Amino acid sequence: MPSFEGCLALQTLNLSHNNIVGQIPVTLGHLPNLHSLDLSSNNLTGQIPSALAALKIGASSFANNPGLCGQPLPRCSPLEPVSSHINKPVIIISVAIGGFVILLAFTACIFFWRKGRATVRTEEESLPRGSIKTSSSLPVTTEQLVAGTGGFDERNLIGVGGTSKVYKATLTNGLVVAVKLFDWSTNAEKANYFFQKECETLGKLRHRNLVRVLRTCCNTEMKALVLEYMPCGSLENLLFEGDNNGLSWRMLLNIALDVAQALVYLHHECTAPIIHCDLKPSNIVLDEMYIAHVSDFGIARILEPGVSSYSASYFRGTVGYIAPECAAFSQYSIKGDIYSYGIVLLCMLTGRCPTSEFFWEQGVEMHTWVKQFFPDKYEETLSKNLRMDILVSDKVEEALQLMELALSCIVKDPKQRPTAQQIIRTLVHLKSSKTLSLSNQASQSSHGSHSIISVQSSKESSMTVFHQDQEIQPL
Ligand SMILES: Nc1ncnc2c1ncn2[C@@H]1O[C@H](COP(=O)(O)OP(=O)(O)O)[C@@H](O)[C@H]1O
Ligand SMILES: [Mg+2]
Repeated sequence: MPSFEGCLALQTLNLSHNNIVGQIPVTLGHLPNLHSLDLSSNNLTGQIPSALAALKIGASSFANNPGLCGQPLPRCSPLEPVSSHINKPVIIISVAIGGFVILLAFTACIFFWRKGRATVRTEEESLPRGSIKTSSSLPVTTEQLVAGTGGFDERNLIGVGGTSKVYKATLTNGLVVAVKLFDWSTNAEKANYFFQKECETLGKLRHRNLVRVLRTCCNTEMKALVLEYMPCGSLENLLFEGDNNGLSWRMLLNIALDVAQALVYLHHECTAPIIHCDLKPSNIVLDEMYIAHVSDFGIARILEPGVSSYSASYFRGTVGYIAPECAAFSQYSIKGDIYSYGIVLLCMLTGRCPTSEFFWEQGVEMHTWVKQFFPDKYEETLSKNLRMDILVSDKVEEALQLMELALSCIVKDPKQRPTAQQIIRTLVHLKSSKTLSLSNQASQSSHGSHSIISVQSSKESSMTVFHQDQEIQPL
């Protein structure tokens, strides 16, 4: 069955009576606009993904699929019931064969685990002392990475960055990973530098909104990071590739929260603050639940204890996203990341990239263009999808406040920019707020001049939020 990954505008899907076999892809439950689904009378098997169950689609949509189970159908049983007409000798033989197979699998696991550990040790020992610390010891050899990517075949290429190429690899045990291969051939010194840097920072970090390093691979043939595979690609792919018309309100807010959570961790919860230095949509990747993970720590910097900024000897960052004090004076602080975060928010709100031709033609930078419309006509700057979605779901006031937050992140004076914690507070407030209270607040605020489209208490969006609701607590 196709995954329908990326079909963000899909609202209705009827695949009934099609003899479709296999499992329902998890991605189907994460299409932001899907509200009507009919998969009845097929040969689908396995558990109905929980995200689909959350969409509150009735049991009739899954009916006549003999192998399908889980909400809204009856629960899946861990073991199929043994039919009463099977006689005892058959059961005994089955148990004996089962036991033998389990024993064989257990022995094989121990064998491969020991072999894997040996590989991990050899590769890590070849690195400078103390520079590598993998988050887990995924047992994989260089040969397995080569085989798993089809010899780094272009067909498995899922991303190209400034310093590396990223491939999808399927390992022998079926695990799918991303292999970030540093471009060793053209500039070995540069490749080594970025590889070491990323190992030193990302390799030591662990947070649900950061990409996880599963293994490092460092030998004479290659320098690579084995990363958790993110099936939904980068935020850049999502925003700027294909004929995309922008994110839905719910998806935007979730991604904004995910990235802000990562920043709170990096800036305030690590032993020493870590500045990412290159926050942008291509360095934010999305898992199968569209949960955002910050990646690419090639130019990140761990601050010395008690120090709030540092001067870089060369330009770090990306034009369009880099804060003015970093670009002009090479002064890097956590507030530089907040500036980049503000630009990422503007990208999500407008559906536009700061370096797009559109702004060249307008003769202004993205943030100047947005400010020209803010606050009275701010809706004109929103992406097509978002504009429609906030009208339908009655979130016009919230979108205005989010735009205001984005603009507060990109003020010139770094001290005036909010902290990541303050950003979270605003986002949590926006996510949980009802239109009535916000409208009332807004009418008393400094932006009293803008039109309040609705003063009715909005019903919560009919779409169920599928992640973070349980985890984010107002600070
Ligand atoms: N874990 C991952 N899963 C899926 N795609 C990824 C993953 N990591 C990176 N990518 C893709 O590869 C691109 C380049 O990766 P990145 O780490 O930014 O490399 P660079 O340091 O060379 O810029 C990303 O923009 C993204 O599209
Ligand atoms: Mg990158």
